[in-house]
Amino acid sequence: MKLIVYRNEREASAATAEALASAIVRHPAMVLGLPTGRTPLPLYARLAELREQRHFDASRVTTFNLDEFWRLPASHPGSYRAYMERHVFSRLAIAAGQVGFLDGMAPDAETECLQYERAIRAAGGLDVLILGIGTNGHIGFNEPGASLRARTHLAALKPQTRRANAVFFEGDASKVPGQALCMGMGTILGARRIILMAFGRGKSKAIQGMVQGPVTTRLPASFLQLHADVDVVLDEGAAERLAASQAG
Ligand code: F6R
Repeated sequence: MKLIVYRNEREASAATAEALASAIVRHPAMVLGLPTGRTPLPLYARLAELREQRHFDASRVTTFNLDEFWRLPASHPGSYRAYMERHVFSRLAIAAGQVGFLDGMAPDAETECLQYERAIRAAGGLDVLILGIGTNGHIGFNEPGASLRARTHLAALKPQTRRANAVFFEGDASKVPGQALCMGMGTILGARRIILMAFGRGKSKAIQGMVQGPVTTRLPASFLQLHADVDVVLDEGAAERLAASQAG
């Protein structure tokens, strides 16, 4: 894992946006895996600015999102599809045909998950996967537990994760769907390159465990230690528990 610590979230997001924009210039038909959440918002905003200033053209990029709520229509403001339309697809001018998305209203979860895995493979796999991390070390909706699922699956959300998602559900965690479709850890580790971003002291414990702890299903992000090309992009708060020798 390569640790990159910036003074703050703004600088980290700007540098990551520039690196991604350059990668898209070099590989215009890149396949990107993308998260939602609060963490990538400054990255998406900066990427949109760079695109609007014509630093790169995303019209040939294909995207696959990490996850989507189960039994929530894409038109609901709390759906991850709605989030992505608002912050990414419209602003980067990515056409609907280039967007891979889990359908939370699909008739059958298992078939939907198999089709998603097939679609990622047919696109040639994920070139770059951007990730956030939960305060409990979750990745996507791969929550801590006795076991992890390898492939895309229907996952149950922990109460903590429902609370963290309440903002688009009138601040009411009980309105957040209890299940979501989500890439599995094997799908995630299949990406050629991973960039995990984390900001704020609230993430520092999860980051410490991910980087310095054992590989364990109790902290799903620790499985990223098994991947050969992971950049961990942090601000000083998220990095505060890492031994000085490992921050760099
Ligand atoms: C969302 C996702 C989640 C978030 C994580 C951190 O697509 O994959 O694992 O990355 O919950 O969320 P924020 O960024 O809101 O702190």
